[in-house]
Amino acid sequence: MKFKELTQLSIGEVVTKHPELVRVFMDYNVDFCCGGDRTVSEAIEKDTDEVEALEVAADKAIEQAKLFAVGGTQKSLDAFTNEELIDRIVNTHHRYLRETLPRLSELLFKILGVHGEHHPELFEIHRIFGGLKTELEGHLIKEEKQLFPQILKGSKDVAQLIKTLEDEHDGAGEALHALTDLTNHFTLPSDACVTYGATYDLLKALTADMYMHVHTENNVLFKRF
Ligand SMILES: [Fe+2]
Ligand SMILES: [Fe+2]
Repeated sequence: MKFKELTQLSIGEVVTKHPELVRVFMDYNVDFCCGGDRTVSEAIEKDTDEVEALEVAADKAIEQAKLFAVGGTQKSLDAFTNEELIDRIVNTHHRYLRETLPRLSELLFKILGVHGEHHPELFEIHRIFGGLKTELEGHLIKEEKQLFPQILKGSKDVAQLIKTLEDEHDGAGEALHALTDLTNHFTLPSDACVTYGATYDLLKALTADMYMHVHTENNVLFKRF
């Protein structure tokens, strides 16, 4: 699949099927969340004047995302066993959140103190992130202590729990949209310091990782039940 074949679809749909493109859209300041009804071609023509470079980066991202390493070989996520998927989710995405959420919380509190007076949106960013962090921590534990052990035991009675977890994914998605908006797509103000920059970079990386994480759960693992 080449990026050019996707450009007539809505950008919301494309990001769901190809979460690896989130990072590319972010890097070229293409708004993929608010106004997700636009087609990809409308969005990129309006939002960036580096269409060709974006296309090259997008093809590369799609190519790289086709195969993931597992046990010394490479395969697509669809070909992973349940055990392999769970192992990947816990050791890639959950581990990442365990490291990044506390770090970001600390950074946001720091820049709130230094810049909050001149950038009042930081209060709202700090508040929404705090809620997201709390929700995600509970969510990870539900997956690791309840859902994943049940799946590994071969239990088929997981539909209700999966529904709850999918609703929580939607809630996290809304918080991330709000943060993307409030940070003006992670754009730094002219008076930003190094810590401000590090905070927005990390928030951007966390958002991209969450898209891959939720995709792996909703569209690959959960779909099997
Ligand atoms: Fe998860
Ligand atoms: Fe999840």
